[in-house]
Amino acid sequence: QPISIVGVPMDLGAGRRGVDMGPSAIRYASVKEKLTGLGYQVEDRGNLHVPTPESHEEGDQQLKYLREITTVSEQLAQEVSTIKDNGRFPLVLGGDHSIAIGSIAGLAKHHRQMGVIWFDAHGDLNTAETSPSGNIHGMSLAASLGFGHPDLVQCAGYAPKIKPENVVIIGARELDPGEKELIRKQGIRVFTMHDVDRMGMGAVMEETLNIVTNGTDGVHLSLDLDGLDPNDCPGVGTPVAGGLTYRESHLAMEMLAEANVLTSAEFVEVNPILDSSNRTAKVAVALIGSVFGEKVL
Ligand code: ARG
Ligand code: MN
Ligand code: MN
Ligand code: MN
Repeated sequence: QPISIVGVPMDLGAGRRGVDMGPSAIRYASVKEKLTGLGYQVEDRGNLHVPTPESHEEGDQQLKYLREITTVSEQLAQEVSTIKDNGRFPLVLGGDHSIAIGSIAGLAKHHRQMGVIWFDAHGDLNTAETSPSGNIHGMSLAASLGFGHPDLVQCAGYAPKIKPENVVIIGARELDPGEKELIRKQGIRVFTMHDVDRMGMGAVMEETLNIVTNGTDGVHLSLDLDGLDPNDCPGVGTPVAGGLTYRESHLAMEMLAEANVLTSAEFVEVNPILDSSNRTAKVAVALIGSVFGEKVL
C-alpha cells in the first residue's frame, strides 16, 4: 500500500518547546528514503500549520492552548481522512502526543471498531480534572475514549472514537492517580515495564496482537518515543528512566510487521533540542523501517 506522510509541528500540548521540530528531525533522518528503499511508493504532504506558543495565550491552566490545539486537531482529522479516502497508509509525524486526538478522529471515521497500540511511558489518560500539568499531550488517549473536555472529545464531530477493550498500552511506568483509576474502571489492558520484564516483549506483543485484532477492522500504532529508555532516546520532553530498549522496541515493530495488521501509525514527542546529534529521530526512522517490514535477513 502506498504511504502518505504528514508532519504536525505541534508543541502546544507539551510543557516545553522543541517537539515542534520533531517532523523536521525525522525527515532529516531520511524517513522517506528508508520507505522508498523498502519498495513503498511514498508521498510527503508536508506539515500542517501550527500556531507558535509565544504568539498565543495559554488560557485555562488545566487545558493549556485548548483553542489552538482543537483547531489543529480538526485539520489533522481532515487530512488523515483524506489520506484514507485516497487509499493510502497515513504515517503521522509529531509533534507532541496531543496530535493523536486529531489522528484518531480522522482514522476512526474509516474504522467502526479500531484497535490502538499506545506505546508510551505514560498513559495520556488524564482529563482537566486529573492532570498534574494542564498539558493536553497527557490527555489524548482519554479524549479519544470519550473522556475530557468536549472540544477535545468531540473532535471531527463524533465521540467516542475507540473503545477501551480495543486499546493496549505498552511500556507504562509513570501513571498519575486519575489515570490509574480510569484504567481500572475502563478495564484498559496495560503492559507496564514490570510486565515487559516478566513476560518478555515477545509474549507481550502476542497478547497485544490478540487484543487489538479481536473484533476490530483496523489497528493504529501511536508510538511516543519516550516509551523507549532515555539512554536510547534522550531527545524527548518527558523522559522516564527504566524504559523499553532499542531491541525490545524493534522486536515489537517486527512482530507488528509480521502480523500485517497495521492500518496507520504515528511517531511523536521527538525533541531535537534535548537530543544529541538527532539520535532519537534516527531511532524513530529505524523503528519505522521495522514496522514497514525491514528485516536483517
Ligand atoms: N502524565 C503527565 C501529564 O499529564 C505527563 C504526560 C506526558 N505525555 C506525553 N505524551 N509525553 O502531564
Ligand atoms: Mn500562525
Ligand atoms: Mn504520550
Ligand atoms: Mn509519553
